[in-house]
Amino acid sequence: MAEVVGGVGTSHVPAIGAAVDRGLTDSEPWRQVFTGYEPVRTWIAEQRPDVAIVVYNDHGAAFSLDLLPTFAIGVAEVYPPADEGYGVRDIPAIHGDPDLSWHLVESLAADDFDLTVCQRLPVDHGLTVPLSVLFGAPSEWPVRVVPIALNVIQYPLPTPKRCLALGRAIRRAIESYEPDVRVAVVGTGGMSHQLQGTRVGHINSEFDRMFLDRIGPEPHVLAELTTTDFIREAGSEGAELIMWLVMRGALADEVKTLHTHYHVPVSNTAAGVIVLQDA
Ligand code: DHB
Ligand code: FE
Repeated sequence: MAEVVGGVGTSHVPAIGAAVDRGLTDSEPWRQVFTGYEPVRTWIAEQRPDVAIVVYNDHGAAFSLDLLPTFAIGVAEVYPPADEGYGVRDIPAIHGDPDLSWHLVESLAADDFDLTVCQRLPVDHGLTVPLSVLFGAPSEWPVRVVPIALNVIQYPLPTPKRCLALGRAIRRAIESYEPDVRVAVVGTGGMSHQLQGTRVGHINSEFDRMFLDRIGPEPHVLAELTTTDFIREAGSEGAELIMWLVMRGALADEVKTLHTHYHVPVSNTAAGVIVLQDA
């Protein structure tokens, strides 16, 4: 049967991907950021997952305000990196796992989560930057990828509580999948940031550190926060942290927090990373 090897939450700031693409990870000021990713890379290499389910948000590359699903899943053989206006990143092809995707679609629908099914899904920095965080710049990604996209763009957003519940349903789906695949679950986005409006540049390290401390042992407390709480505390784009709650839901009730790292700022964002594993 399939098994969950653990979960990673990570920011997906485009500049992190650009630093990898330009070979800047070992030079200032990037070294401090990438030093924090080293234990994550070591851990994921040891876990040898076959598949990563990457829970991310699209930023207008695949969807738009005209057509924006709350929850969507890719079922394709391959996902092209999107051109977000500065050219397509020169990264390896992102291969999917259609069998696992369709199993998730069926299991989640039976579990009251009806996801929009995407046969064609260009993936933006919300998915590609975390792959670079986890694996650097390999000639081929060492995992197949199942993308699950949440709406964090157009209000109303899915509630934090529903995101945690979606993660738990993903866990049940993985545990009912017969092939012996090792699955890592990744939640991307955050930490606190706001890229527009009068609070542009908003960062709240106290909230971020509280979130890093509590997501392992007390995710239900974070899931009680409202969307408005997330926006007020973490900023309108900091609400991307709801994707970390999906990842957390896919783990056991009791987890170990194996690693955290926090750096302010990367571009306009408080960049954080966490590695969690079933206790
Ligand atoms: C930045 C952060 C994001 O999460 C994003 O989606 C785009 C840009 C930034 O800080 O530059
Ligand atoms: Fe984002």
